[in-house]
Amino acid sequence: MENRNRHFFGSDFVRLPEILKDVLKEEGLKAGCRICIIADSNTAPLYAEDVKTCLSSVFSETDLFVIPAGEENKTLDSVKSIYAFLVERHYDRHDMLAALGGGVIGDMTGFAAATYMRGIPFIQIPTTLLAQVDSSIGGKTGVDFDGYKNMVGAFHLPKLIYVNADTLKTLPEEQFASGMGEVLKTALLADEDFYSWLLSNMDGIIGYDPDVILPMIRKTASIKERIVERDPTEKGERVLLNLGHTIGHAIEKYMDFKMLHGKCVALGVIAAARISFERGYLSTEELFEIRDVCAAFGLPIFADGIDDHKILALTKSDKKMSGGKIRFILLKSIGRAEAEDDVSDSELLSGIKFINGDEIAYEE
Ligand SMILES: NC(=O)c1ccc[n+]([C@@H]2O[C@H](COP(=O)([O-])OP(=O)(O)OC[C@H]3O[C@@H](n4cnc5c(N)ncnc54)[C@H](O)[C@@H]3O)[C@@H](O)[C@H]2O)c1
Ligand SMILES: [Zn+2]
Repeated sequence: MENRNRHFFGSDFVRLPEILKDVLKEEGLKAGCRICIIADSNTAPLYAEDVKTCLSSVFSETDLFVIPAGEENKTLDSVKSIYAFLVERHYDRHDMLAALGGGVIGDMTGFAAATYMRGIPFIQIPTTLLAQVDSSIGGKTGVDFDGYKNMVGAFHLPKLIYVNADTLKTLPEEQFASGMGEVLKTALLADEDFYSWLLSNMDGIIGYDPDVILPMIRKTASIKERIVERDPTEKGERVLLNLGHTIGHAIEKYMDFKMLHGKCVALGVIAAARISFERGYLSTEELFEIRDVCAAFGLPIFADGIDDHKILALTKSDKKMSGGKIRFILLKSIGRAEAEDDVSDSELLSGIKFINGDEIAYEE
């Protein structure tokens, strides 16, 4: 898998045609090839027309295919409907796809692009904070299958990731908060200075100040990009990106996917911080500061009334296991994560209890 890809950050779609012309030239794609925008039922009415207008100066034809919004549609059936549309219009390897939406559209479009005619090029135009800082980067594509998240997939890198931060203005608040879960996770695992920057720019972030949001997206994306470039197939360092995800995924499953992913991740990060604190890696102040920051960004800090033992059991079915042991990501300090495989059940339980709203007394 090659690693080079282009990444643009801005606050409109103006530069899209010019950058795409360069991409086509570099890829040896003939001018006048076609592009199919894949959007969902929320992003299509908001942004498809603008994007289509920009793309029409570069491509001979610009199609639009819309999929109903929601994780429940991240399925092989949706991908099949994309294939059918492409076949009907005689798309071939000289044409491309553009994902216009959040992680659901990005993952599905990427998977369709990875597999249609054994792989065609695609670009990402992420429109959720989570997609801009996380899911559009790294080339993981796929769909859910048989009740299992991301069970079927492929690695396929986009030729361009074009971030228009202005699209976040229409994003529901709780979706923005969910994206902040991944931003915070990224800062905590890799960059203490960035974590401090997030704390000092809290007002700007909460107030959607573009002068703060854009550098925040750029920084978070660059951290993920750097990690993924060094470890594209997740043999080592990339696993650190799963900070908060072992317990986070367990909560997500326990809640039957009714709680947004980034919110579950925030709870998982707080639980991991608690375990890190108990091992003497973090101070009491650092632990409680992490929790306060989550609260300030609209993230949950308690999952009221969860069944601790059920959550513990669910952590065992997480994919990130190594030889039957959980590879748990701990914070050795703020900005430095490490994977450890000796985290005991009682430590996991203590982390889970810390985020269980029923157990508030436990902190004292
Ligand atoms: N490939 C990866 O590496 C990776 C990493 C993390 C997450 N993911 C995947 O990403 C998915 C979650 O992505 P998500 O959180 O972006 O969810 P999503 O794509 O479902 O988007 C959330 C909601 O926001 C709407 N929306 C999107 N952009 C909007 C905008 N600008 N204005 C108004 N509404 C808008 C969508 O229609 C949807 O209803 C999951 O399926 C997860 O598995 C993939
Ligand atoms: Zn995540």
